[in-house]
This record gives sequence, C-alpha cells and structure tokens, in this order.
Amino acid sequence: MSQRVTRRQFLNYSLMGVGSFMAATMVLPMGRFAVDPLFQTGSDSKMIQTSAKVSELGETPTKVDFKYEQKDGWYSSEVTDFAWVYKKGDKIIALSPICKHLGCTVTWAGDESQPDQFFCPCHNGRYEKNGKNIAGTPPISPLDQFEVGEKGGMLTIGAKGENQLV
Ligand code: FES
Repeated sequence: MSQRVTRRQFLNYSLMGVGSFMAATMVLPMGRFAVDPLFQTGSDSKMIQTSAKVSELGETPTKVDFKYEQKDGWYSSEVTDFAWVYKKGDKIIALSPICKHLGCTVTWAGDESQPDQFFCPCHNGRYEKNGKNIAGTPPISPLDQFEVGEKGGMLTIGAKGENQLV
C-alpha cells in the first residue's frame, strides 16, 4: 500500500515547517537574551582603578570618581560613580554617597551647621563620618561601604556592601 502525500497534507507540513522556523527565530534570541547574564563572569567582584593617589588621601572625606562597564543583558554602557573616601590611620574608608532613606546623594559637610557629618539635602538626613545614620533623621541604616585596595599607589574600588564600621 503506497503512502502518498496529498496536496492538503503537503501544504500542512510546509506551513508547519515554516511556522516552526519563524517561531524558533523569534523565541531563541529572546531566551538567550533572558538568561545571558547567568553566563557572565562576576564583574562585580573586580576592583576598579581610580585616579586617586593613596598617598594623597587625607582624613577629610573626598569625592573619588570611578567608571565601570555595566552590562544589562546584551546592552553594555559605561557608568560613572563616586565614593566618599578618607583615611583613618592606615585604613582607607570608602563610603557610598547614596542616602539610605530614599536614595538621594549625600555630601560631606553639606550642612554648614554640621561640618563634620554627611548631609542629605532631600529630607535633611545626616550621617556621622563613619556612615552611621544619626537618630532622629530620616535614614534608618548606615551608608554602604565599598571594598578598597591599592594598585601601583592608586586607589582601587571594589564591591559595595554593608557598612563594617558601625
Ligand atoms: S533621601 Fe536622604 S534623607 Fe531622604
């Protein structure tokens, strides 16, 4: 008994084949896009070189800029960020400028009446030099702290984490 393919069956197979191919060309890139960050090596753990000389850091918090490549799926962009950096004895401290209340940027000595504190102008948040939030002001936790290092006499900045000073 011969298995002849009818014109209707041939058309169905052809349409299913073309449809499957078109669906695959749309779905596979989307799936790859969705899981791509899982295959990236942990760039967060890298230390980023800054242009600040460790020997020139003092006891007063100074704004130190740094740049890094941020990857979001397939899109990558260069991000400029900064930290408030100072020395306490031989130790280098780098604090995040992001207020822990609602994310505004804090400045050192931003409030003239409190020249030895970090100040957030959005809701008058205040922090001590070590990043500890001052009771009675809106922030409810200390400023985050960056990992720091030194390479060739220059400051390097690493991952941001919880404040280890308070
Ligand atoms: S965002 Fe800083 S005090 Fe509100």
